[in-house]
Amino acid sequence: MNKKMVSAINEQINWELYSSYLYFSMAAYFDSVNLKGFSSWMRVQAMEELTHVKRFYDFLSARGGRVIMAAIQAPPTEWKSPLNVFEETLKHEQHVTSRINDLVDLSLTLKDHATNSFLKWFVDEQVEEEESVDEALQSLKLNKNNPGGLFMIDKELGQRVFVPPVDVTL
Ligand SMILES: [Fe+2]
Ligand SMILES: [Fe+2]
Repeated sequence: MNKKMVSAINEQINWELYSSYLYFSMAAYFDSVNLKGFSSWMRVQAMEELTHVKRFYDFLSARGGRVIMAAIQAPPTEWKSPLNVFEETLKHEQHVTSRINDLVDLSLTLKDHATNSFLKWFVDEQVEEEESVDEALQSLKLNKNNPGGLFMIDKELGQRVFVPPVDVTL
């Protein structure tokens, strides 16, 4: 595997770990303001990010690349409001999408078809990620001036469960 691709995937592993770390931090924020449903949603999100780490890890390993674990940046710990958390989450996912797109571009430049094919799963996944975050963000915006609305959304988000993907084991 090309050295540039190996280090780009290692950087992405770090980003997926940071994503998980960020979502656990958001879960802790929601716990601190007693929004258990929001917290549970974020914990599911954090677990999903760990499965992304595992996908990149296994792929890199299978291609003979060396996995390197670098320091993970500390995430923020406080937010202004639940709405603010979801605004930041959408921004974060959009950033991750642009990083995945950069990886795809690199695989094309290097004519690395195996990596290009592997990355397609992540291209599709990012569409879903942005969609589900935006959905929660929109209902928070709609209920901005309705105090009961927040508890309704909390209940709704609390229903999300972590489903381990069949093709990834942790
Ligand atoms: Fe991810
Ligand atoms: Fe994500």
